[in-house]
Amino acid sequence: MARKDLIDIASLHPEEIEFLLDQSKSFKKLFTHSVKRIPALEGKSVLMLFYEASTRTHSSFEVAAKRLSAEVTNFDVAHSSISKGESVRETIETLQAMRTDYIVIRHSHPGLPGMIARQTTASVINAGDGAHEHPTQALLDAFTIKEKFPDPRGKKVLIIGDILHSRVARSTSTLLQKLGIEVAYLGPGSLVPKYGPATIRRFTDYEAAMAWAPDVVYLLRVQMERQDVQFFPSLREYHRVYGITTARLAEISDLGLYVMHPGPVNRGVELCDAVMDYERSLITNQVENGISVRMAVLDWLKPGGDFPRQESYVARPKVSSTVLTP
Ligand code: CP
Repeated sequence: MARKDLIDIASLHPEEIEFLLDQSKSFKKLFTHSVKRIPALEGKSVLMLFYEASTRTHSSFEVAAKRLSAEVTNFDVAHSSISKGESVRETIETLQAMRTDYIVIRHSHPGLPGMIARQTTASVINAGDGAHEHPTQALLDAFTIKEKFPDPRGKKVLIIGDILHSRVARSTSTLLQKLGIEVAYLGPGSLVPKYGPATIRRFTDYEAAMAWAPDVVYLLRVQMERQDVQFFPSLREYHRVYGITTARLAEISDLGLYVMHPGPVNRGVELCDAVMDYERSLITNQVENGISVRMAVLDWLKPGGDFPRQESYVARPKVSSTVLTP
């Protein structure tokens, strides 16, 4: 059975992950070679419903949908009847009546995209729900890592920062582990939850975490907007203890480690300015890969489509013909 929605990473089967990453690669190749648009989603409509700010996710979904020839509507939350007290449910019922094929939603409430998916016939894609999940970010992170390490099994990724409030940490660490990558967390004790998978090592000391010998250092944005109490003394202190300072960047460079960050970056907090010019920074690669990964996701969930489908517009490696249940 084909999937209708992409809500989380945990429920993805290994064959689906492999398929999506392979498709992303094919889409990237196709669009690097001057193709501007393919008719994969001609006649389909994509509604962008962002209740929280976004630069990368919103713009890359929009570009991805347009490259697949879908019609894109940006729902203007600020000027909608939501400002007059309309509930999310009412909004969804209104949008359902318009028969949109896809709803790409970002919202501060964890679980809301999954709830909406159960109430609409449209394919719902979670573009980030509170501190819960950000599945397309995880896919683009995995894709970016696989470009550097085609067989990433046994590689080590150290995720640094505000794990507690991070949907990226949750989705990306789940996906990386599914690919056989070892994951560790580093951050202040107040921001690294003690619960969660026992397979993930936890560090509060930078030097101890570096002694674990990571291949990739993945910095998270400090999410001041989700912190209702103070979790560390000051941003300057955070940078000194957990940030990639100029001195630490020199060490990271000597060790040949890759640096990643989902954006937006708080410069001078998670990273010093020089990281932006660091030759093994993958931050721009992550943004670029977001488009092909989101094309793969939109194409995969195509209404009336099936997984794995035969009528591919891009060269598709062989995938299992097993019928998958979501
Ligand atoms: N990584 C990410 O979700 O960035 P945006 O908030 O800009 O979409």
